[in-house]
Amino acid sequence: MQVTRSQISLFLCLLSCVSVIGARYTPDWTSLDSRPLPGWYDEVKFGIFVHWGVFSVPAFGSEWFWWYWKGAQNPDYVQFMIKNYPPGFSYADFAPNFHAQFFDPDAWADIFEASGAKYVVLTSKHHEGFTNWGSPTSWNWNSVDDGPHRDLVGDLGNAIRKKGLHYGLYHSLYEWFNPLYLSDKQSGFKTQEYVARKAMPELYDLVSRYKPDLIWSDGDWEAPDTYWNSTEFLAWLYNDSPVKDIVVVNDRWGNGCYCKHGGYYNCADKFNPQKLLNHKWEKCQSVDKISWGYRRNMKLSELMDLPELVQDLVYIVALGGNYLLSTGPTADGVIAPVFEERLRGIGAWLQINGEAIYGTSFWRVQTENATVPVWYTAKKSTVYAIFTTNPMQNTFQLSAPNTTDSTVVTLLGSPKPLKWAPLQSSGLMVVLPELPFSPAYAWTLKMEGVA
Ligand SMILES: *[C@@H]1O[C@H](CO)[C@@H](O)[C@H](O)[C@H]1NC(C)=O
Ligand SMILES: *[C@@H]1O[C@H](CO)[C@@H](O)[C@H](O)[C@H]1NC(C)=O
Ligand SMILES: *[C@@H]1O[C@H](CO)[C@@H](O)[C@H](O)[C@H]1NC(C)=O
Repeated sequence: MQVTRSQISLFLCLLSCVSVIGARYTPDWTSLDSRPLPGWYDEVKFGIFVHWGVFSVPAFGSEWFWWYWKGAQNPDYVQFMIKNYPPGFSYADFAPNFHAQFFDPDAWADIFEASGAKYVVLTSKHHEGFTNWGSPTSWNWNSVDDGPHRDLVGDLGNAIRKKGLHYGLYHSLYEWFNPLYLSDKQSGFKTQEYVARKAMPELYDLVSRYKPDLIWSDGDWEAPDTYWNSTEFLAWLYNDSPVKDIVVVNDRWGNGCYCKHGGYYNCADKFNPQKLLNHKWEKCQSVDKISWGYRRNMKLSELMDLPELVQDLVYIVALGGNYLLSTGPTADGVIAPVFEERLRGIGAWLQINGEAIYGTSFWRVQTENATVPVWYTAKKSTVYAIFTTNPMQNTFQLSAPNTTDSTVVTLLGSPKPLKWAPLQSSGLMVVLPELPFSPAYAWTLKMEGVA
């Protein structure tokens, strides 16, 4: 029989169709961990984390306010309540003051876009259990029935997507004081009332309603993944959900999961692996070093300054990570101008140096103490050396890049190619121009055609 071209392509199509149908994930880590991470996530490198909830009303100490007050009974929090609130005032009494009256999602989206971030992750529900959308299983402990009377998750999502940014949702599996959770905990997590009636219905609801590009799971650590039914949820998410092809998740899906299972790795908060990992990872960090949520008692000296933030971004990207930077809005819906200034500063740096960040990969060498310390990133045969110390001299020596006759060296933001000469063993010496003013205190040498 003569086999025609169209028969061959039909046959090939059948093969690939069968393999697509066959690629269903099963609810176990071996299968789920084999899913390739959707490509957009590694490209974008930089995101904004937004911690917003009822904790933004007391705005004191940290977003763990309720826990420090009632759980740990930390004297600072207990005294704060005694001094400032009438006896009998409960945490739930804060919710009506979560007004969000100045919340303008488009204005937030403008700031986030100007920061150069390509994804935004909002707390849909933190450990306090208050949902920032009208969850039908929240017993009215949500932003539509109480507080702002508004769908915060939906409204921010619409504004973020209008800017072409990716939208992710943070979700805490546990809730400190939820009676169903506490009763399951009492049983040694043998019962799953809380999972069946709260955690899982809400996760499915979030995905179906808002189609998040990313789910940032948290609050998993007290119970095993078998209690949370995380693998069942993820199998549905990857096989059948409306975001199955683009959704990215982190690694907090049950005690012992982080740094081991799930999508990309967060590991611990503010994780710094100090070396390349053989797995995609993300460092989350807050501009206010003490708290992820807004607190009225923050001091300028407790904030990351712009050079520190850019240094963080640079080493993280050089080590193959993404940077998720948190700012806490106020209960009335404002991003404090000091945070806005930091974010716009990062964006201004990225306007000039972004090509050394977005869409890059780590290089064969990640860092070296050249004339001053540098961090390397790469795109094909172009290598970027980013430095955050002014060398205070007009020559710059790098030992790692191997030059060729066609090597071209430039300083990003400065038009003219720079003079360079190979060094004897390996590497090169570059003649630097006067460094342009950089409020972030970071500059990039771009080297095309190096090995
Ligand atoms: C968890 O998954 C198991 C196995 O699929 C199932 O029998 C159980 O009903 C699920 N529990 C909840 C709370 O969804
Ligand atoms: C560069 O020098 C610093 C300070 O001495 C040191 O901690 C670091 O490990 C060095 N880095 C490399 C890549 O040699
Ligand atoms: C760079 O040059 C050095 C010295 O000639 C050589 O040993 C090394 O293999 C080269 N590396 C690459 C990646 O070309």
